[in-house]
Amino acid sequence: MQNPTTIDDTQAMLTAQGYVCGRALATVVFLSLKLGRPLFLEGEAGVGKTEIAKALSAALGRRLIRLQCYEGLDASSAVYEWNFPAQMVAIRTAEASGGADRAALQTELFSDEYLVERPLLEAMRPDENGAPVLLIDELDRTDEPFEAFLLEALSDFQVTIPELGTIKAAEPPIVILTSNRTREVHDALKRRCLYHWVDYPDFDRELEILHARAPEAAENLSREIVAFVQKLRTEDLFKKPGVAETIDWAKCLLALDVINLSPEVIADTLGAILKYQDDIQKLQGSEAKRLLDQAKATLVPA
Ligand SMILES: Nc1ncnc2c1ncn2[C@@H]1O[C@H](COP(=O)(O)OP(=O)(O)OP(=O)(O)O)[C@@H](O)[C@H]1O
Ligand SMILES: [Mg+2]
Repeated sequence: MQNPTTIDDTQAMLTAQGYVCGRALATVVFLSLKLGRPLFLEGEAGVGKTEIAKALSAALGRRLIRLQCYEGLDASSAVYEWNFPAQMVAIRTAEASGGADRAALQTELFSDEYLVERPLLEAMRPDENGAPVLLIDELDRTDEPFEAFLLEALSDFQVTIPELGTIKAAEPPIVILTSNRTREVHDALKRRCLYHWVDYPDFDRELEILHARAPEAAENLSREIVAFVQKLRTEDLFKKPGVAETIDWAKCLLALDVINLSPEVIADTLGAILKYQDDIQKLQGSEAKRLLDQAKATLVPA
């Protein structure tokens, strides 16, 4: 599919993939596609950062290439590696057949055949469906040297392999970077990108997301679930539930044939929305009932 031509188109395109987003997010996505700028998304866990890349790749019919960041990730595992075992076999074979031409062997060993492409290099390769979507996920988990390296790779969309030369993307990939903000990402990298803070959705949007992702849930139950989760997020918790938890919880309640929320049902299924014992502890006793009553009070009869 062609890139969307307006913000409304962008929003509709994402909605068609079951991704519900507001105007502000649709605007940065549209601009990022139009200007060919990487999109940097920050936000709490489970608010739909990673999902945007998936929705975009599905909507545009582009390949999704994911670089999952972690502590200690280095350039070689992000760009390419040489297939060392295969190289060893080739050397042994050449030795066994005797009189190997050293120069020819050297050239062969460092050719495409022995090159293992990692996400960044893969994303530079041409693709018949158009440039892929490159998702650089959870960037805050890497360290600064890798960030500096990334900055370079993203500024000219090229990577250099000493033995092979420089490979430049004919068409730059669509780049989405995400961070949970466990640390600040460097300004220099942010400056290259369009930025958006993905916040928790408000009641209406979260209900819309639930309709999209758990359509089998009855309207009444969906509204109660969203109202309760929204209420829960205003509490002082160690880890607030994300949208992912709302969806999970709805699915758990459906599996239990729950029709309405009650303090008992909430107590039995809290593990779907709260993942820390301290937080779960806080909702023991009459607390769940108090929150549920408050949540229900916010629901105007549908
Ligand atoms: N706006 C949305 N529209 C539709 N589904 C959504 C939306 N936001 C979140 N989701 C759902 O929530 C789930 C979690 O989203 P996602 O994995 O993108 O979160 P994340 O922000 O990347 O979280 P983390 O920081 O933990 O990686 C997705 O599988 C998706 O189903
Ligand atoms: Mg994610």
